[in-house]
Amino acid sequence: MKLDYTDEQVMFRNMAREFAEREILPVASEDDQNRHFRHEIVQKMGALGLMGAPVPQEYGGLGTDYLTYALICEEIARASASVFTTLTVQVSVFQVPILKWGNEQLKKKYLPRTAKAELIGCFGLTEPNIGSDAAGLETTATRQGNMWVLDGAKMWITNGGVAGLAIIAAQTDKSKRHRGITAFLVEQGTPGFSSRDIQGKLGLHASNTAELILQGCKVPEENILGQVGDGFKIAMTALDSGRISIGAGCVGLAQACVDAAAKYAQERIQFGKPIVSFQLVQEMLVDMIVETEAARLLVHRAAFLKDKGEHFTREASIAKYFAAEAAQRAAVKAVKIHGGYGYSNEYPVERYYRDVMAMVLYEGTAEIQKLVIGRESLGVSAFV
Ligand code: CAA
Repeated sequence: MKLDYTDEQVMFRNMAREFAEREILPVASEDDQNRHFRHEIVQKMGALGLMGAPVPQEYGGLGTDYLTYALICEEIARASASVFTTLTVQVSVFQVPILKWGNEQLKKKYLPRTAKAELIGCFGLTEPNIGSDAAGLETTATRQGNMWVLDGAKMWITNGGVAGLAIIAAQTDKSKRHRGITAFLVEQGTPGFSSRDIQGKLGLHASNTAELILQGCKVPEENILGQVGDGFKIAMTALDSGRISIGAGCVGLAQACVDAAAKYAQERIQFGKPIVSFQLVQEMLVDMIVETEAARLLVHRAAFLKDKGEHFTREASIAKYFAAEAAQRAAVKAVKIHGGYGYSNEYPVERYYRDVMAMVLYEGTAEIQKLVIGRESLGVSAFV
C-alpha cells in the first residue's frame, strides 16, 4: 500500500477542504442550533462534483477512486458531521449500489442527476422493529402483474425527507428470510409513499432524518436493483462501502476535536500558564492525535483494497469500528479540555460530542462491526 497521495487525490482533498472552510464551517454551528438542513450547500457540492466523486464520468460523476472520496469525506466531516452524513449516504449506500447492481437503463436515468445533487437519495433498510438484524425486516413487496406493491415503514433514514429517490429493501418471500429480500428504487411522489421528519435527535441537527411510510405503494418491475432476492446482498455490500466513508467521516470529526482542543489548550491560562503546558492535558491531546492518525491509516487501507478490487469487508469494519470509537474518545477529551466551556454551544466541541454518537451507531454499531470482524477473521458465523 502506498502511503503518499497522487496529485489528483491531493487536489480533490484541497478542493474539499477549501469548500468546507469557506461554505460549511461558518454556518455549521448556526445550522446545528437552528436544526436547519441547508440545501444550498448540498447544491454547491453537487455543482463541484463532490456529491458523486466516485461515480464514473460517463454517469456524470468525477470518476475518482474511493480513497479520494474518503479524503473528501474527512474534510467535509471536519467542518460538519451533518453535511458529511448527507454526503456519505448519497454516495456510499445510494449511488454505489445503483452503480453495482442497477441495469444500464437505471444508471443512465438516475446517476447523472444524483452526481450533481439535483436528485438526493436515501437507503431504506432499518425499520421501527429492525435495526442490527437487517435480515429480519418486515416491509413486504407483493407482485401484481408487472408491478410490486410495497407495504411497511423505514426508520432513521438519513436524507429520507429530502430525497427524490429511495432504495427500499423489502421482503418478497418471507420463507427465504435474507434470500427473500429485494431492493427497489422508489421515487418520491409515488402514491402510497410518504415521509415524516424525525425531530428531537441528540445530534446531526443539520442533517435530515426521516421515517418512510409505504402503504400500497406500486413500483414497476424495472425498478428492482439486481434480481428478486438480491436485496440483502445489495444492502451488505452497500454497507461495506459505507463503513469506509463513515470511518473517514469519523477521522474528520476526530481531527476537528484535535484542532479545537489544541487551540483552546494554547489559549486557556490556568495557574499562570497555558493549560497545554500541563502534561496531563498534553497526554489527552497526544492520545487524540495518535488515535486519529491510526484511524486514518485504517480507513485508507480499506479504501485502497476496495480500489484494487480486493475483498475489503473485514478492513471496512475494522476501520469503521476503530475510527468511530476513536472519534468518540476524542470528543469526550475535547470537551474535558474545554472544561465548563466545552459544555456550552459557545464552542464547537459540544456539537462534536453529540454528533459522534450517531456515527458510532449508524451503518452498524460497534458490536455489529465486531461480529463482522470476528466472522471474517476467524471464519465463525456471527450467530451460532
Ligand atoms: N457482502 C456480501 N454478502 C454478504 C456480506 C457482505 N459484506 N455479509 C453477508 N453476506 C451474505 C452472506 O454471505 C450470506 O450469503 P448466503 O445467503 O449466500 O449464505 C448472507 O449474506 C447472510 O449472511 P449472514 O448469515 O452473515 O447474515 P446475518 O443475518 O447473520 O447478518 C449482520 C449479518 C452482519 C449482522 C448484518 O445483518 C448487519 O450488517 N447488520 C447491521 C445492519 C446495519 O448496519 N444497519 C445500518 C442501517 S443503514 C444506515 O445506517 C444508513 C444511514 O441512514 C446512515
